[in-house]
Amino acid sequence: GLARSAPAPLLGFAAVAASSGDEVVVPPGYTARVLYRWGDPLFAHSPAWRGDAGESGAEQALQAGDNLDGMHFFPLTVGGRPSGSEGLLVVNHEYCNYEYLFAPGGDGDYLAPWTADKVTKAQNAHGVSVVHVKKQGGVWKVQRGSRYNRRLTGNSPMTLSGPAAGHALLKTAADASGTAARGTLNNCANGVTPWGTYLSCEENFNAYFATAAAGWKPGPSEARYGLSAAGAGYRWHEHDARFDLAATPNEPNRFGWVVEIDPFDPASTPKKRTALGRFKHENACVVVAADGRVVVYMGDDERFEYIYKFVSDGVYDPRRPAANRDLLDRGRLYVARFDAGAAGGDFAGSGEWLLLDKHANATLAADARFADQAEVLIRARQAADAVGATRMDRPEWIARHPASGELYCTLTNNSSRTAGQVDDANPRAANRWGQIVRWREAGGDHTATRFEWDLFVLAGNPIAYPDRGDPRSGSANVTADNSFNSPDGLAFDADGRLWIQTDGNFSNAGHYAGQGNNQMLCADPASKEIRRFLVGPSGCEITGLSFTPDSTTMFVNIQHPGEAGEHPRKPTGLAAGQSMEDYLARHPLAFSRWPDDGAGGRPRSATVVITKDDGGRIGS
Ligand code: FEO
Ligand code: CA
Ligand code: CA
Ligand code: CA
Repeated sequence: GLARSAPAPLLGFAAVAASSGDEVVVPPGYTARVLYRWGDPLFAHSPAWRGDAGESGAEQALQAGDNLDGMHFFPLTVGGRPSGSEGLLVVNHEYCNYEYLFAPGGDGDYLAPWTADKVTKAQNAHGVSVVHVKKQGGVWKVQRGSRYNRRLTGNSPMTLSGPAAGHALLKTAADASGTAARGTLNNCANGVTPWGTYLSCEENFNAYFATAAAGWKPGPSEARYGLSAAGAGYRWHEHDARFDLAATPNEPNRFGWVVEIDPFDPASTPKKRTALGRFKHENACVVVAADGRVVVYMGDDERFEYIYKFVSDGVYDPRRPAANRDLLDRGRLYVARFDAGAAGGDFAGSGEWLLLDKHANATLAADARFADQAEVLIRARQAADAVGATRMDRPEWIARHPASGELYCTLTNNSSRTAGQVDDANPRAANRWGQIVRWREAGGDHTATRFEWDLFVLAGNPIAYPDRGDPRSGSANVTADNSFNSPDGLAFDADGRLWIQTDGNFSNAGHYAGQGNNQMLCADPASKEIRRFLVGPSGCEITGLSFTPDSTTMFVNIQHPGEAGEHPRKPTGLAAGQSMEDYLARHPLAFSRWPDDGAGGRPRSATVVITKDDGGRIGS
């Protein structure tokens, strides 16, 4: 026969070394450019970035939000085809860093005076951006003033839809209908539907609520979702009664949902899809099953929380676009139980999807905590507790292999798990590094209720723990050259490369010695080889991942550069008793000058565009 050259290896780039610098490092032959930064003007009338945090709340709503996280590139149709050089980039703004959002006042305190406008500014730094982007002269640029550009914030009108919409627990004094919510918050990661909409996932919504009311105590539902009188320090309740737990007790029930957004219609109202359940949503991995039903895989990112899946009642019909618009309003919600395999201890086994249905599940039917299915959805965590789901090591992103249909989920870490709490899928106590679990649905059917699973990688540190028999050194595909901790963002490209992004400890010391800054790695699902592709600047996490249809442009987010975290360089000027956040508010370039090398006045979360200098597919 004819001589044939060997197929190109899936991973075609040279590995990048771990490092602790203040820059984005990519392999030789690749270029990374900043595209869209916190504070960039989006509309024709937007103010330019000031750099001294002097923008008002209203001005922040006209600029890019903070903490860019999950993201998707929707190509525009040009000449009847999806464009590789023009589209709508939809980007989540998960949270904000007060030490950079506010300038220190005359007394040097960046929180004083605490004003209503500071609350508005923080709320407007959250939400989602829709950004028209286009490649011009070989360089991707934001199309400022495009009719598509949009900012959704913590105050934008949203519709509550699905089985829980209109329920008494979703009604407030301002919205007697229980269907007209305001704002989306803690928009972590995302999903995309085959009918061209974006799913934005509300994660740690509890952080924004607090109260000074004497005697307020969390009930079982509030406690289960982490709501507390003290809150997490956002202080919104001091100027906005919507976030005061005593004044507006049902407002927290209107967050913790998956929000569907139509990026192509700037006048559309986003919909919070209650059929997908209320928890601290990480991402939403959407799959069309063989019979046309739509399946959404979702993680609840907190220690000991669960992995869920939704299966729609209706079927997706590409020939009838309008009929698909509300498929996410009716269906079944399941939660996963991971069982040990027959051998035991081999990090593999089988599992079952447990139905969370008030009427079809006898356990829930008999449980007085849930009056109806709406309450099962609003209190999905308690329903999952009741049916005996497996408590995981912080489920973050879920991704589906484009050919095999296998699902992968990052379990980022769980230092609280004790030796008495380990199981086959969460096999380590004091799990500082995390693991990636993968599963295959029975018969390859995404609507199946049984699956088989194994661990793709047990992250660890063979530099700190050279004895490879020690589970802290990680599984065999972890080496001194690719060691990392806290896998979080996760996505496949069209060729089947698995991209892994980290959000972990960047101290580069102790348990994390030699791992450097947060990073992005690329894995071959077949060989299990993992290779480091990118290292981020100081203090950041790497998150969010999307490609153009031709895979020659990759979009990645650099989130919260300069955040204190476990910083390896403690500033010498830190006064006794001074918090790191307070120090950074006074010296905003102390930990990171990225992305403007100081010219922007402070570090800024940003979308980065990565291209291969020869124009090839990313990773090839
Ligand atoms: Fe927002 Fe679990 O990451
Ligand atoms: Ca994040
Ligand atoms: Ca995350
Ligand atoms: Ca994380």
